Amino acid sequence: MRTALIAGNWKMNGSLALVERFAQAFVETRLPAGVEVALMVPSPYLDAARGAFGGTPVATGAQTLHPESNGAFTGEVSGAMLAELGARYVLVGHSERRSLFHEDDAAVLARVKAALVADLTPVLCVGESLEEREADRTEAVVLGQVTAVLDALEPAERERLVIAYEPVWAIGTGKTATPEQAQAVHAVIRSRLREYDATLAEGMRLLYGGSMKAANAAELLVQPDIDGGLVGGASLKVDDFLAICQSAG
Ligand code: G3H
Repeated sequence: MRTALIAGNWKMNGSLALVERFAQAFVETRLPAGVEVALMVPSPYLDAARGAFGGTPVATGAQTLHPESNGAFTGEVSGAMLAELGARYVLVGHSERRSLFHEDDAAVLARVKAALVADLTPVLCVGESLEEREADRTEAVVLGQVTAVLDALEPAERERLVIAYEPVWAIGTGKTATPEQAQAVHAVIRSRLREYDATLAEGMRLLYGGSMKAANAAELLVQPDIDGGLVGGASLKVDDFLAICQSAG
């Protein structure tokens, strides 16, 4: 009943030429029915991606936004600006934003709210570090990140979110969580969502991210609480990304 979502996160990679290569592949390849596909490209490529993916079912998204809608914030980009360039999704709280740009739970919440105001779908990223996993704190860390946002939203706002579970130790390392490890954390998140509302829990899409690739996507995506993927490195390669999309069908 939940529509799978495969979202690529190019991070600070790619080029206009790569946007064109993907666009051509999306035109030539039949994406599986019942799977939503999105690419979170660097903001300067959003306009080109909107044009290039027009006529294909692929949506575009951004990787971050500023909490304010405008003002003296040199170098920053607002949700309204992203929406104006056709973005439908925006990542919030990616572990690279949390660690490299010091975004804490309050900063993440402010960005989620700004995304909702701009009519963007926030993809809230959560996940534990290796140290936290080894200290048996995975559940506490992940649920802490989830509830820091959901507790502060109205019920109708919660329903507009997508959550991506990305164990930090699996991001860009080639080390993927096993399907059992990923499913266990997704189940814990979904069961916490049930405490807000059963319909919210059944409807919310929970994506897995962390070294997802063509070779391991199917076994992850078949898990009952994994509704899609947030794909980093493999989303920069046309064939790999398309193969992951096919695995979700
Ligand atoms: O947003 C995507 C994640 O950070 C995963 O990246 O697939 O390169 O490990 P990765």
